[in-house]
Formats: sequence, structure tokens, C-alpha cells
Amino acid sequence: MAGSALGIERPGDRDAAPLRVAVVGTGGWGAQHARALAARLDCELVAVVGRDPGRAAVRAADYGARAYTSIDGMLEAEHPDLVTVSLPNEQHFEPTMQLLRAGVPLLVEKPLVFDLDEADALLEAAGDTFFAINFNHRYAEPVLRARAAVQAGELGELVFATWRFGGEANRGPSPHANLIETQCHGFDLLEHLCGPIASISAQMTRMTYGAYSTVALALEFASGAVGTMLGSYDSSYAYPDTQRVELNGTAGRAVIRDTVRELSLQSVGDETERVWRAGYFDDEARSFERTMDRHLDAVLTALRTGAPPPVRASAGRRALELAHAAIRAHETGARVPTLPAGGA
Ligand SMILES: NC(=O)c1ccc[n+]([C@@H]2O[C@H](COP(=O)([O-])OP(=O)(O)OC[C@H]3O[C@@H](n4cnc5c(N)ncnc54)[C@H](O)[C@@H]3O)[C@@H](O)[C@H]2O)c1
Repeated sequence: MAGSALGIERPGDRDAAPLRVAVVGTGGWGAQHARALAARLDCELVAVVGRDPGRAAVRAADYGARAYTSIDGMLEAEHPDLVTVSLPNEQHFEPTMQLLRAGVPLLVEKPLVFDLDEADALLEAAGDTFFAINFNHRYAEPVLRARAAVQAGELGELVFATWRFGGEANRGPSPHANLIETQCHGFDLLEHLCGPIASISAQMTRMTYGAYSTVALALEFASGAVGTMLGSYDSSYAYPDTQRVELNGTAGRAVIRDTVRELSLQSVGDETERVWRAGYFDDEARSFERTMDRHLDAVLTALRTGAPPPVRASAGRRALELAHAAIRAHETGARVPTLPAGGA
């Protein structure tokens, strides 16, 4: 494949009637939601909702949208076709429930929530409502290509996988913020690439500031493969290989570096490596932020055609279930079974 696999420049079908979309949340990542939606030909960003009227007004003005401080007020005035939600990690439940009760299609940020009962309550309240979660790492170019290589059998049978993701701490009330809000991407991506995780063992440390800021997990996959996850809030996003995934199979190996930076593929016994890196002009594939745009493109296609979301909110519940299994494994010192309900 040459260039970007999706090749999005100015995305969206210009002949489609624009969908009315709204963003809840005016923080740093909410800015990416607003940018990605406003960039599209097939959407009109009609509203931005924030708690702080000044911040909401500034963000809305950037995109010619209207500012609100109340979700209900926005829904009543704007009747959006889709709402995206990007709120502080540990404050997702109430606003998401409010939006689900209004029956509006949703794309929410990870983590779904921190508590499994709350996750179940959201999924139940959603019923058949379109309810997507932003596991955007799935749409990074190296990940798309690695998955294609796995599916084409280029790596043979996967025997082990490793995940490493670590940077500066995002301190929050939960002692398991790192595991739940950040390493959820790892649980999701490893299952996306390697299939269901069957059991977890765990080591965790809180030696730096009292929370379990670094975790080391040992995984068993339903396929028989094994894996490791190293997730840290005691590292730095300045380090190369902040994020690294290795998939080692009987016939070859794939290594993903920093989500969007590089994919290397190599066959057993072959000293030559095939490396993908974004080309000189390919800023789209090089950009971490644009993984959001790619996922959004798939979300909007699904919404327009009446298909289910490309990444359902239940994937957020699954990542949370795995995080809680890891916590239990650490607390009990035992290996905890994690096969999804209904088996592998
Ligand atoms: N998918 C990704 O790659 C990715 C990357 C970064 C962040 N995120 C996620 O995005 C979310 C937001 O992150 P952030 O860094 O922008 O957080 P943030 O804390 O900077 O911003 C959140 C904003 O929401 C506002 N807010 C809080 N409660 C509100 C309410 N009830 N109604 C309206 N506004 C409210 C806050 O005032 C703040 O402006 C988090 O869940 C984070 O995990 C995802």
C-alpha cells in the first residue's frame, strides 16, 4: 500500500445532507472533536456545550457554532443528529446517561466509565441507540496494516504480544486512573489484534505518588498465545517508543511504534525488514490526532447507513472488565479468568 490507507483529506460526502452535530466538553481533546467535525463536508457543528460559559463561547465561536452550558438546553434548541462527548475522565457517567435518556446518537470518549455497574447501566439505558466509543488507536495506519498482516496470515500463528504505553501522570481521584483511563487502549487493541484475553495476572506499584501509577500484566489469550502489558504514569511521552506493540507469530513479527510513527514487518529468519513510515507529504497518517478523524469517518458512515457503530460502547465495558480483573488479580495474587461472556 502506498500513502495513507484511508487517504482522508477533506472528508465527507459533499452531496449528503449535512448532519447536525454537537460536542460536549471544551477541554484539550474536546478541541479535537470540534476540529474533526467542523472539517467535514457532511457535518455542521451546530453546538458546543461546556460548564464554563466563557470557554464554551470561545470554542463555539472558533467554528461558527452556538455555545451552551446545559446539555438539555442544547438538545431542546438544536435537535442534533449526533453528539460527541469529551469530558474529564472520571465524570463521564451522568452526562452520558442524560444524553442516552434523550435517545440521541452518541460517540463518547474512553474510558466508558470507571465502575462496571455504571457501565452496565449506560449500556442498558442505550438499548438500540447508536452508542460508539472512541478507541481511535484502531484507526492508526500502523495498526490497520498490522491487522491486515495478521489476517492475511503473514505472521503465522501469534505466539506472543507485548504492549508498552507510558508517559507523565494524569493524576485523578481513582488509584487506578492509569489502568482504567489510559491502558484501556491497550486492552482494546490487543484483543482487536490477537483475540480475546482469557486470563490476567498482575503486578502494580504505587511507589511514586500513592496511586497505582505503573502496572505490569501477564496475559493469556484464548488462542493459547501469551502477552504482557506494561502501562505507566511514571514515564515520559518525550521518550521514543512511548507506545510500542509487538506481535510475534510462528512466521513473522510486527512492531508498531508510537501508534502512528512506524510499523515494521519481518519474516522468521529474514534479515530484511519491511518498514512503513508516513511519506514526506503524508501528514494525515503521521498525526495521532487524525486517528480521531478516521474513526469519526467510520462512525458517520455507520450512522448514515443505519449500521451499528464501528466500535460499540460495549468495547469500553470490555476494556473496563479487563481492568477490574487486573485489579482483582493484583489484590488476590491469583490469576483471574477473563473470557468474555459467551466464550472466545
Ligand atoms: N481517544 C484519545 O486518543 C484521547 C486523547 C486524549 C483525551 N481523551 C479523552 O478525552 C476526554 C477529555 O479529555 P481532556 O484532556 O479534554 O479533558 P479536560 O479535563 O481537559 O477537559 C474536559 C472539559 O469538560 C468540561 N466539563 C466537565 N464537566 C462538564 C459537563 N458536565 N458539561 C460540560 N462540560 C463539562 C471541563 O470544564 C473541561 O473543559 C477524557 O475522557 C480523555 O480520556 C481521549
